[in-house]
Amino acid sequence: MVAPLKLGLAGLGTVGVSVVKRLHKLENELAVKSGRSIKITAISARSRNKDRGVDLSGYEWFDDPADLAKSDDIDVFVELIGGDNGPAESSVRAAIKAGKHVVTANKALLAKHGNELSRLAEENNVCINFEAAVAGGIPIVKTLREGMASNNVTRVYGILNGTCNYILTRMEDEGISFADCLADAQRLGYAEADPTFDIEGNDTAHKLAILASLAFGTEIEADTIFLEGITSITTADIAAADDLGFRIKLLGVAVKTDTGIEQRVHPTMVPKESEIAQISDVTNAVAIDGDAIGSITLAGPGAGGDATASAVVADVVDIARGLMIKPLGLPVSELVPNVRAKMRAHSGGYYIRVTVNDRPGAFAAIAQRMAEQDISLESIVQRKRASSKPSSPKAEPPYKDIVLLTYKTTEEAVRKALQAMENDGHIVASPQMIRIERL
Ligand code: HSE
Repeated sequence: MVAPLKLGLAGLGTVGVSVVKRLHKLENELAVKSGRSIKITAISARSRNKDRGVDLSGYEWFDDPADLAKSDDIDVFVELIGGDNGPAESSVRAAIKAGKHVVTANKALLAKHGNELSRLAEENNVCINFEAAVAGGIPIVKTLREGMASNNVTRVYGILNGTCNYILTRMEDEGISFADCLADAQRLGYAEADPTFDIEGNDTAHKLAILASLAFGTEIEADTIFLEGITSITTADIAAADDLGFRIKLLGVAVKTDTGIEQRVHPTMVPKESEIAQISDVTNAVAIDGDAIGSITLAGPGAGGDATASAVVADVVDIARGLMIKPLGLPVSELVPNVRAKMRAHSGGYYIRVTVNDRPGAFAAIAQRMAEQDISLESIVQRKRASSKPSSPKAEPPYKDIVLLTYKTTEEAVRKALQAMENDGHIVASPQMIRIERL
């Protein structure tokens, strides 16, 4: 008879409680699948007495998760605290040093310390399993690390933040304000403890950094990712995109180029008929291009208790089955440095919205500045009204929005043209620029 696998669970928020419930509900099935039973023996969370709607009385309680991590009565430390330092970091380190396997949903921790923690895990001959850290319930870590082992991956991209996709979808479908959509996402348990991490793109960047490492065999490098969130996206942009045949999505994109790895997170206009444009609400999607398989896309729930718990429990089952895979797929000593490709060299089409004083010469000046940078325009349209009243002291009513779509050009050329337009004095608010990807 094989001894049960004993878990210490730290963090009893939406995901932690769902993990407890799933382990109760599936106790017998998981024991059969794993060849041994899986039991929670001890827990830790911020507040001991809070009613979480689940019976926790049978588990030993630890005030300090680092003490739980070192407990002799656990084999696996399940870290669902979150955050890239503090108790999450110290308890994961303590667990590894004590020879415990780690299962974590903590993308921020891995984005910042993943290389080093992987090295520590190798030295201590334990696993760090982190399927839940990227794209919630989608088994993308396994897909890249194990399923794609015989492919040369050239690109990985996707919708990696459920909160942002939920907000953009509802703004488009229902015309609801950004703030109301965000409040609903928080209420539904999709958003991070600090939702600025969602809407400013940091959460997507953390996940992209992990995916890029798994895809290209490079060290995790999150600090240099080009980052723009969705806070500047207005209903005017969403309506203009719709009229032009596009949807706006927050994408994380990592591409292997001749000059290094291009990693970027930004709102992106994608054709309405594209696969990625169909991904709505809290759903995430990850597309992978590989030399043997061409292109595949996985889609599924990217946030929420049950979906994320599904990935956490599957990681535990792997350990119960005795599967041991290097956290990043390779020994850390074999990972190559992630050399950054410069964003200014990025080329593609661009959507530009400028709010102008509606007077003679404005339209012509804008077209002129684009021509000077050798930017060819696919369309230029004056919208019926401005999206918002500009705050600039230069502004004199009436204001109008002008929306331009460019053919393929470089980021550097677009930035120079926008700067020249601003200097001309026709523009009365900061221009909006959204990259177009014809995926
Ligand atoms: N806040 C994250 C999201 C949760 O909205 O996708 C899952 O990582």
